[in-house]
Amino acid sequence: MTKAPMKKAAAQTLPDDSFTITDNATGKSWQLPARTGVMGNRLMDIRRLYGDTGILTYDPGFTSTASCQSDITFIDGEKGVLLHRGYSIEQLALHSDFMETCYLLLYGELPTPEQKVSFDADIKNHTLLHDQFISFYKGFMRNAHPMAIMVGVVGALSAFYHDSIDITDLEQRQLAAHRLIAKMPTIGAYAYKYSLGMTFPLPRNELSYSENLLQMMFSNPAENYQINPVLSKAIDRILILHADHEQNASTSTVRLAGSSGANPYACIASGIASLWGPAHGGANEAVLNMLSEIGTVAQVGKYIHKAKDKSDPFRLMGFGHRVYKNYDPRAAVMRNTCHEVLEVLGIEDPKLKLALELEKIALEDPYFVEKKLYPNVDFYSGIILKAMGFPTSMFTVMFAIGRTVGWVSHWKEMLKDEHQKIGRPRQLYLGQKQRDYMPIERRGHTEKKVSWSWLWGKK
Ligand code: SDX
Repeated sequence: MTKAPMKKAAAQTLPDDSFTITDNATGKSWQLPARTGVMGNRLMDIRRLYGDTGILTYDPGFTSTASCQSDITFIDGEKGVLLHRGYSIEQLALHSDFMETCYLLLYGELPTPEQKVSFDADIKNHTLLHDQFISFYKGFMRNAHPMAIMVGVVGALSAFYHDSIDITDLEQRQLAAHRLIAKMPTIGAYAYKYSLGMTFPLPRNELSYSENLLQMMFSNPAENYQINPVLSKAIDRILILHADHEQNASTSTVRLAGSSGANPYACIASGIASLWGPAHGGANEAVLNMLSEIGTVAQVGKYIHKAKDKSDPFRLMGFGHRVYKNYDPRAAVMRNTCHEVLEVLGIEDPKLKLALELEKIALEDPYFVEKKLYPNVDFYSGIILKAMGFPTSMFTVMFAIGRTVGWVSHWKEMLKDEHQKIGRPRQLYLGQKQRDYMPIERRGHTEKKVSWSWLWGKK
């Protein structure tokens, strides 16, 4: 792999595509190459920094760090722009469907009619789960959180599908990617059915991806299940809105796991685990819980105050974003879909009214305006899913079903990237300096009196 040359700064006029850093402690300077993508920020290429200078960078949470190069998704946080392979999320949500969006993310172009038919058929070919998995589900308590089941079941796929775990084999990579996209609705729906003590409905491949998901979730074996086209269209749009989002926490987790050569099922299981957190994909569940806690519009002011109070751990769930410092374009589409679904279902959900009032007050509050905190993708999704009958615990499962195509697309891209190597960050060490081993008989007898105040929590 060719490494970017690291040249010490010289007297000549520096090319405009570089940066110079100076260590003021030593007066030494170095020139660092700049890299500029097709769109977005200029980057300082620091790959040679440590090797040539012994200097590390410090960036907890990677707020100023690009971990890789990618051509899948572009986000302009300031403008609230989200593009998948160059197509805006608004246009995809309006004109595309989830299977077509999956093809676009995986292969870089919208499919031709023939490619779409073939891709659709291939995904449908993998919707079933190995029958042995049914006993795997039975190992869980009935009240297990469906995300706990999903993490376990997806990780266990590598114990069943040995024909798609060799990451050096391009065909096996594609098989694993298609299998994961195809099986996630089955895995998620079965976790829900298991919680109800109901039998597991088989996928019906004459249905679309979203229709199949709905029938596996809500069909009753004693009755004929009628697909509601408005709901299946809404589900399809929700899956599109969740499909990918650049280097978010769960996608970065998948990339890091994949960088060690772990098999695709293990990598996606790690992404599911990361998504579960309330600061990430678990926020949709947390929004509904927060709206329940707020209860009425009269309480909104109190909770806005709590969200602004640094001494209060309460945060406005579904608000704020690491990258968006403008309205999350997905939240706008989600809000419109929310109105559509509730209108069709004839539901007057007080939580929607509460959410709209909360959004209005927050967007007019100087704290949220100054910190550029806007609703994100999770703010409205839960209200729609709740209206459709999904329990709150299934909201993040739905997010994972949508995001699987993004995870596998980045996993495949990472494996092809000539710059990629195993992810291994460094640290700022603040621990003990080297010291000699203390025999146990001498421990606890120190010259100065040991203070036990730490025991009851005083500093
Ligand atoms: C997703 O990365 C992605 O792309 C994720 C995602 C995807 O599609 O993959 O978009 C999906 O995860 C959306 C985010 C869902 N999470 C939530 O809605 C949880 C609530 N939001 C926050 O926890 C927070 O906004 C984060 C985690 C989303 C972003 O946090 P950052 O970027 O680390 O920002 P920060 O914590 O440094 O906050 C900056 C300031 C802080 O105040 P100061 O210390 O500067 O005074 O804004 C404040 C924060 O206290 N702040 C909030 C807030 N979010 C940030 N204050 C109140 N309520 C909030 N929600």
